Amino acid sequence: MTDFYNFLAENIKQIKQNNLYRQFKVLSSRPGPYVEYNGKKVMQVSSNNYLGLAGDVRLEQAVIESVKKYGVGSTGSRLISGAREVHAQLEEKIAELKGVQRAMVFSSGYAANIGALSALFDENDAVYSDKLNHASIIDGIKLSKANKYIYNHCDINSLEELLIKNQHKHRLNVIVSDSIFSMDGDRAPLLELVKLKEKYGAVLFIDEAHSFGIYGHHGEGLSHELGISDKIDIQMGTLSKAAGSEGGYIAGSSDLIEYLTNKSRSFIYSTAPAIPCIAASIKAVEIIKTAHDLREKLYVNIEYLKMRLKEHNFDLIPSESAIFCIKFNNIEQACQISEQLLEEYNIMASAIRPPTVDIPRIRICAMALHKKSDLDYLVKSLSEMIKPN
Ligand SMILES: Cc1ncc(COP(=O)(O)O)c(C=O)c1O
Repeated sequence: MTDFYNFLAENIKQIKQNNLYRQFKVLSSRPGPYVEYNGKKVMQVSSNNYLGLAGDVRLEQAVIESVKKYGVGSTGSRLISGAREVHAQLEEKIAELKGVQRAMVFSSGYAANIGALSALFDENDAVYSDKLNHASIIDGIKLSKANKYIYNHCDINSLEELLIKNQHKHRLNVIVSDSIFSMDGDRAPLLELVKLKEKYGAVLFIDEAHSFGIYGHHGEGLSHELGISDKIDIQMGTLSKAAGSEGGYIAGSSDLIEYLTNKSRSFIYSTAPAIPCIAASIKAVEIIKTAHDLREKLYVNIEYLKMRLKEHNFDLIPSESAIFCIKFNNIEQACQISEQLLEEYNIMASAIRPPTVDIPRIRICAMALHKKSDLDYLVKSLSEMIKPN
């Protein structure tokens, strides 16, 4: 029999040998375009804090006021003792913004995806999932025990072939996709997904984690920007990225939310989100609704960064969002450049490695609060280290 402690030590050794060892970079300041790391000021291009709301004083003030009234912890599952007025207020605000009947809040986006997918579908159903969907979707499908069909990334023909071949074998056929892919920064072909949903009578589940707050006139998400939100049966998003707080939501019909309230295990068997996160999210959703200036600044930065990166012919993954990835041939190189950026240039740009992605890369996220000079410095630093294609 394998000794447990040897098993752990062997595994850790193996992870280190493969250059896949993961470690925290501990920051000692507020979130923002600049943060403090190891006693020095570094430029942050690795966060999902797209609009800078995670360090916004308006959220801070809302948290203080709410904590004074409601305390900190929510003390239990919403269905037992954890429900507070603020949870319902947040859900009403999300539902109103998204133009749906109802919304429900989970403690994270991860919990929302696994909780919804596993509650809604089972072995009678088929889930058609983009090859690059987020881990929380993959895990949710696994937990659901539904039949899983993986279609090639953003490949509508590949999806349609699978639907043609398998649609009649199952009770429900469900298409699930990120709207913006978290590790590539490209966009799902949402208009085509809607067409296939309608053609094959499928259910459509879209994860707007990286588009909530950023796209759509009021920051509702990419599906609103494209005018197809009413075709999406299950709209999922997080409050942990552009909204600068923490938590996940599912938005849709009243029946969907009533069903999930009664069936979703990550909702039922988990303590309700703590008051500070809920209070910050309420304020964030209010701000997002009219944050046209912040969104405009982010769009300008995205276009500028895209142009500057292209000038240098880096090996870029085509991006249609604030996420830009430079590919590397091997893990060592990606890690070494990331370390060098931090140590020599005071820039925090994380390397992303397998198993998160197949191709090692440095992932850069533009923020609304980056200045043009920040982005110039970033590109100059990258160009000093990375030889063009
Ligand atoms: C596409 C996508 N979905 C879901 C999640 C999970 O969200 P959260 O971080 O709020 O758990 C993430 C976060 O990394 C994500 O990128």
